[in-house]
Amino acid sequence: MSEKLNLPLRPRRNRKSESVRGLVRETVLTPADLIYPLFLHDEPQNDPIASMPGCHRWSLEGLVGEVGEAWNAGVRAVVFFPKIADFLKTPRGEECHNPDGLIPRAVRAVKSAYPGITVITDIALDPYNSDGHDGVVERMPDGDLKILNDETVAILCRQALCHAEAGADIVSPSDMMDGRVGEIRAALDEAGYEEVSILSYTAKYASAYYGPFRGALDSAPKAGDKKTYQMDPTNRREALREAELDVAEGADMIMVKPAGPYLDIIRTLRDAFDLPIAAYQVSGEYLMIKSAAKDGWIDEEKVAMESLIGIKRAGADMILTYFAKDIAGKLSK
Ligand code: PBG
Repeated sequence: MSEKLNLPLRPRRNRKSESVRGLVRETVLTPADLIYPLFLHDEPQNDPIASMPGCHRWSLEGLVGEVGEAWNAGVRAVVFFPKIADFLKTPRGEECHNPDGLIPRAVRAVKSAYPGITVITDIALDPYNSDGHDGVVERMPDGDLKILNDETVAILCRQALCHAEAGADIVSPSDMMDGRVGEIRAALDEAGYEEVSILSYTAKYASAYYGPFRGALDSAPKAGDKKTYQMDPTNRREALREAELDVAEGADMIMVKPAGPYLDIIRTLRDAFDLPIAAYQVSGEYLMIKSAAKDGWIDEEKVAMESLIGIKRAGADMILTYFAKDIAGKLSK
């Protein structure tokens, strides 16, 4: 038996050096793909978030500083999540459209310091609502909770207008109420904000991976769960249906969330639609990497990078990730 195989086809030739691997590389991650989610509160200090190591609830000043660091690392888009004081939470979440509320102030502060950065705001009631739900809750006589769709959509429109007025570039409804994209689009256009984009959480699943986020904002539902509005993790065709509606209603970009456990959904929407697709690597995905890396079991940076490449390879054009600043910094070097 000769030692040489008669093997004209040798895929390894395309992997023989870093420069050849560079030539044939199919998926490239750049800082321009990343969206950095940031938490803030109306307090003077920056508090580390226990459930999300490396993340903080920023003061307004701290937020501007962190956005500056992210900008210097190459990040060009941020999204804000507020922790609202308990005394401001009400059943209808009126604080969500207070023009002097935390988010409008943050948008103004960040846009005036970094006019070139894209500011995205989250549209949903959960941080503002005393029931901790994304919509208005009605308590039925049998004790069941009903999340009121149409009443909620009207409030979300006011929230979107308030954020647009403050200077948000993109509003991003994460509430999963039916018909909200169309209503928000109409409200924005009517008020002259036709340049404000809508990034819709199109396929947002009722996921246990949101746990650390709810801890960060103290925004977990007080009773019940989110299964009557967020999608059942078992469903794929339903994501196509949600996407058809969001596209018809005028979404500019559509999102899949969580990202890592839903790569097939990203790919499904990529193949079926032309719109840009965002994927949200959520708090639980982040925390799993962080905790496994803490004791050196895995290499945090390499695993984070690989997880993001996987999400991009599945078809995402942009990724919301708590690793954004660190990874952008790495990629810019
Ligand atoms: C709520 C909202 C959630 C997240 C973003 N917006 C939590 C939820 O739906 O309960 C989760 C993000 C994360 O886990 O990182 N509108």
